[in-house]
Amino acid sequence: MIPGSTPLAETAAKTSRRRHLLDFEGWSRDDVLALLDTTDVMAQVMQRTIKKVPALQGFTIGTLFFEDSTRTRLSFERAARAQSADVISFAAGGSSLSKGESLKDTLRTIDALQADLYVVRHQAAGAPHQIARWTDALVVNAGDGRRAHPTQALLDAYTFRARFEGFDGFAGKRLAIVGDVMHSRVARSNVALWTLLGAEVVLCGPRTLLPAELGQARGVTLTHRVDEALEGAHAVMALRLQHERMTRGLLPSLAEYRQRYQVTRKRMRAAHAGALVMHPGPINRDIELEGALADAPYSVIEAQVANGVPVRMAILYTLLVGSR
Ligand code: NCD
Repeated sequence: MIPGSTPLAETAAKTSRRRHLLDFEGWSRDDVLALLDTTDVMAQVMQRTIKKVPALQGFTIGTLFFEDSTRTRLSFERAARAQSADVISFAAGGSSLSKGESLKDTLRTIDALQADLYVVRHQAAGAPHQIARWTDALVVNAGDGRRAHPTQALLDAYTFRARFEGFDGFAGKRLAIVGDVMHSRVARSNVALWTLLGAEVVLCGPRTLLPAELGQARGVTLTHRVDEALEGAHAVMALRLQHERMTRGLLPSLAEYRQRYQVTRKRMRAAHAGALVMHPGPINRDIELEGALADAPYSVIEAQVANGVPVRMAILYTLLVGSR
């Protein structure tokens, strides 16, 4: 107990320390680096023959996916079970939401099951924040609209730190993100995270898919020319064209898009020696990324997926136990 404080004040202090992961607002560089260090420990657990520790025994984690997902949901569930937490899963497709139940009523029903933490993906920006206001449980954003996808950015940064040869910090490093930046929560969260860590981010795409306001943040530049974006980059991330979020024809033609924006082996020659190729998935081979590049030795796309588990283990652990 803090000397001089009352038990109630203690509880209040604990409550105010209660922390969600909705985006990187309020997170410091040191918070993130501590999380990446915890991830190293979790990665060691995942190297063992028996990939399970009792760290979150007795906790229940609810995965609430109102939007499709493969990698993210599986890796959160793996991360929870590897730490002995119980998992309840909700997928909007097979639920009463499709019968017209509101988000609030759905949450009320789920909340009666008493989870300690919810992992939320929703097509509407801000939905996880809304849920955080309605429940006493902690909330982790697993992607809201085009707004944020913080755990993806964390696993991207972690993968870069683990795999870039001779890594000596994020300062002075350059991440190039090429593709449909406009509809990408992955791009927005990576901009927030990498600039927080002291790196530079270059965003590249056709005029219609590259919102000018993203270039206003410190450490961020925009370009429509892919060769310029890749010049000297330490990591190059290709993004899928998110057709499901496109309301009008934003592209000239797919053929022209490929010709002008596809990340290829040839174009990678302009990047820094040892530059890594990244992609959050799902990949549309030979559209945003040359197929052969996805399988090149300096592609870390599979490592990104694998690292999703220890990164999410570290997040669940830090939020549920770390501050107690
Ligand atoms: C992304 C997403 O859903 O935001 N995928 C992911 O989580 N790994 C990117 C995408 O859908 O293109």
